[in-house]
Amino acid sequence: MSQRPLLLFAIVAAAVLNWYGHVIHAEKPSVIKPGEVWLDDRGVPIQAHGGGILQLGKTYYWFGEDRSQSNDPEKRYVACYSSKDLVHWHYHRQVLAMSNPEGLGKGAILERPKVFYNRTTKTFVMYMHLDSPGYKLARVAIATSKIVDGDYSYVKSFRPLNQESRDIGQFVDDDGSAYLIFESRPTKGFFIAALSADYMDVDRQVSFIPAPLEGGAIVHYHGLYYVLGSHLTGWRPNPNVYATAPSLAGPWTTFRDIAPVEANTYDSQSSMLLKVVGNKATTVVYMGDRWEPKTLWDSRYVWMPVDIGDAKMTLPAPSPWRLDVKSGVAQILVPTAHAASALVGESH
Ligand code: GAL
Repeated sequence: MSQRPLLLFAIVAAAVLNWYGHVIHAEKPSVIKPGEVWLDDRGVPIQAHGGGILQLGKTYYWFGEDRSQSNDPEKRYVACYSSKDLVHWHYHRQVLAMSNPEGLGKGAILERPKVFYNRTTKTFVMYMHLDSPGYKLARVAIATSKIVDGDYSYVKSFRPLNQESRDIGQFVDDDGSAYLIFESRPTKGFFIAALSADYMDVDRQVSFIPAPLEGGAIVHYHGLYYVLGSHLTGWRPNPNVYATAPSLAGPWTTFRDIAPVEANTYDSQSSMLLKVVGNKATTVVYMGDRWEPKTLWDSRYVWMPVDIGDAKMTLPAPSPWRLDVKSGVAQILVPTAHAASALVGESH
């Protein structure tokens, strides 16, 4: 018997399996599992603590503190990852390996890096909290790159608005204007400052919120601004709180708990509120860090879609959830409080 039909069958079967494999892969459910170890596309735990997300077109870039055990202990690192679905993360590289900045020596602190893209200067500008051992310096530092995942060059450090600055947060409004949120201990509160035209400095104070909070994050949702922060308890979690205002300048409401007080924000601390606008719904994602101070590289990420609207914002108990960035619809798969799976994100 001729081998030909068999060969043809094998080729067709291989093609069908290959196609089927692609379909399966394409439909791989995008499930986010808060608190579990998140692996990148190399199979290595993601190192992007205290991080921030920059969206360029359909790609999300995640920058954060890289606390890998293999790092040179005399340097401070920022890693960059990218994703199209906020679930599968491609590792790019360590975009910053900072050594002895400003003569601070090997105990220097680099935390909460956030990258903004300036469309006028076509420059990526990274803000970070720079400090001396013991957190006495209280400054922000800036590093820039012409390429999103290029080598960021250290530029300078300064005290925004001449104020002490520790935890920083990043906010880009719907009109593209960019803001830095920073905690200032002597003033017992935190500032929202507009960046200068080239993003190389802060330009002016937009708001001072007299509440001693850090881990500041902001989202603009349905015409209202929501600001979120944690109390000052270092690496230990506490009940994070939020306030709202019709404008960034205020007036801000009093602060309310985002979750039951005893849950301590489900053992996490706020880092960012990410707005995912799809063609069916808008989901706001709480991005928090579950710090492990003795093994910082093993700190986990707690991301959950918040229940938001009408001046209220609630963080549901962590549970696996699915996000479709195209439609903007989020679905909590195993809600702990309710029996049925819940759809989050308000429809347009
Ligand atoms: C937290 C802060 C972290 C880190 C830590 C050090 O309050 O949010 O970024 O600075 O303190 O104790």
